[in-house]
Amino acid sequence: MLRKQNVAVFVSGGGTNLQALIDAENIGKMPHCNITLVISNKPDVFALERAKKHNIKSVVVERKQYSSLQDFDTALIDVLEENNIDIIVLAGFLTILGEDFTNKYANRIINIHPSLIPSFCGSGYYGLKVHRAALDYGVKVTGATVHFVNEIPDGGKIIMQKAVNIEENDTPETLQKRVMEEAEWIILPQSVEKVCAERSNNEIENN
Ligand code: GRF
Repeated sequence: MLRKQNVAVFVSGGGTNLQALIDAENIGKMPHCNITLVISNKPDVFALERAKKHNIKSVVVERKQYSSLQDFDTALIDVLEENNIDIIVLAGFLTILGEDFTNKYANRIINIHPSLIPSFCGSGYYGLKVHRAALDYGVKVTGATVHFVNEIPDGGKIIMQKAVNIEENDTPETLQKRVMEEAEWIILPQSVEKVCAERSNNEIENN
């Protein structure tokens, strides 16, 4: 029998990508996924309100409460195990995860990055900085990439990409908004569903 994959979404801010995932699940576009947990590394972020509104359990795990990255990783792993999580989605999660974590969940952590990797990615490229770098370089096309997470920042296998045109008078802010609307909110739910469907189907084959 088909088993839906339990998905945890990691957030640090507004949570518009979390919202796109919740909306996709609610309209039946993610039949192999159950978003059952939201983890934030900050209290008081709007993403937590979104989780509450949709009756999704949320937990705050702050990096500063742990003296080492290893202890932080362990705390996260404990929460994921307690909640039987299969797949982790980093949706604007701004804290580095350690190798203990990325190794344990190899091929099970999905990240969204607001450029076409391998452009404008890696250490230091996050938020508006990514869009500013694209505009400064003068590229005419940018976009978003969904990829698996490994120990290299933005270095894991690509799952999906979508291109977005840059317009004459774009600022980092207008470009960020268009990349979200035209790419991120579309390919993140599609990618998560793809990964969950593959895992659910493998489970059936192996049973
Ligand atoms: C998005 O641009 C995403 O690509 C990046 O962080 C931002 C998160 O925005 N990794 P939100 O919290 O989903 O609104």
